[in-house]
Amino acid sequence: MRVLNGTPFCRPPDKSCSLISYNLPCIPLEEQVIFPTVTKTRKCIMKITVIGAGNVGATTAFRLAEKQLAKELVLLDVVEGIPQGKGLDMFESGPIALFDTKITGSNDYADTADSDIVVITAGLPRKPGMTREDLLMKNAGIVRDVTRQIMEHSKNPILVIVSNPLDIMTYVAWKQSGLPKERVIGMAGVLDSARFRAFIAMELDVSMQDVNACVLGGHGDAMVPVVKYTTVAGIPISSLLPAETIDKMVERTRTGGAEIVNYLKQGSAFYAPATSTVEMVESIVLDRKRVLTCAVSLDGQYGIDNTFVGVPVKLGKNGVEKIYEISLDQADLDQLQKSAKIVDENCQMLESAGV
Ligand code: NAI
Ligand code: 2OP
Repeated sequence: MRVLNGTPFCRPPDKSCSLISYNLPCIPLEEQVIFPTVTKTRKCIMKITVIGAGNVGATTAFRLAEKQLAKELVLLDVVEGIPQGKGLDMFESGPIALFDTKITGSNDYADTADSDIVVITAGLPRKPGMTREDLLMKNAGIVRDVTRQIMEHSKNPILVIVSNPLDIMTYVAWKQSGLPKERVIGMAGVLDSARFRAFIAMELDVSMQDVNACVLGGHGDAMVPVVKYTTVAGIPISSLLPAETIDKMVERTRTGGAEIVNYLKQGSAFYAPATSTVEMVESIVLDRKRVLTCAVSLDGQYGIDNTFVGVPVKLGKNGVEKIYEISLDQADLDQLQKSAKIVDENCQMLESAGV
């Protein structure tokens, strides 16, 4: 089976091919444009639940369906009607977008039963002038409650956490779930790295595809864009751009979330966050073993213990399959440890408050 402009076809024609029902003409081999990475015909067996049908949750769910990463997708929210309406709307795009994912919108955790992966986006978004830490108490209660209900219905899911403050919410979900650490993963590093990559591509007027960036640490103002591992087609950016331009982009990356919040006035970024989340889920579903920066619990790596913080990991069907401990300059290591300390202090504050 191959794909032509997003439409599956077979050569020689196969009677079971969906092209037959589209009644499309046969195209000579030499005229075929093939996009080998499009795999619309893949049979997915996973059940994926997305908790929170707001901006990030709904966009994530829609991208998961479009990419056919789940056989069954559940979109759940506390607000009645929203997940049902958005879920049905997404499902009705299936005949055009050519996906068969069954999408259920729900307010009932019974519908999430036996999920393989659960993405948690429930919570309150940041408002202008609000730090991620301001959200701490409120969202900790929400994430704890959501995780408890997920675990009542699914035995051994992989949890992908998006709710902010990200690293702390990942800890809350891990603690509440009782799952092994490799099955609870926070999304932030992919987003922060994507922002840095986008700014570099914009500055150099090169394809985004050739830019690789490494942003470690907590998803906060203390995150660590590591310049020495940031390259364009393997060329360190320090050979391509003056130091002051790089410094400006590093700062813009650190405040990338706030930049969008200030534009939107209400709510926060969701296209890039959802795309980042789907990249992680895809690596797990397809066992692609991508090396992505994710918030995971460290056991002594980088001199950090028992704290969730963003570092490069291998993501596969078992969740976190390897944590990479890369060599950092002292200043970056200090910054990473400082960032982890902020996460740890907040987790301890939550523990003391009994949240
Ligand atoms: P949103 O306000 O559009 O959606 C949040 C949804 O969660 C709402 O529909 C709300 O009804 C629902 N919700 C609230 N309490 C719930 C509960 N107990 N159970 C189920 N659903 C519940 O917000 P948005 O933009 O989708 O952001 C969601 C979260 O993701 C926020 O905490 C935001 O700060 C965070 N975020 C994190 C990013 C990251 O890089 N980790 C990036 C972007 C957003
Ligand atoms: C962001 O970085 C709000 O954390 C979210 O866009």
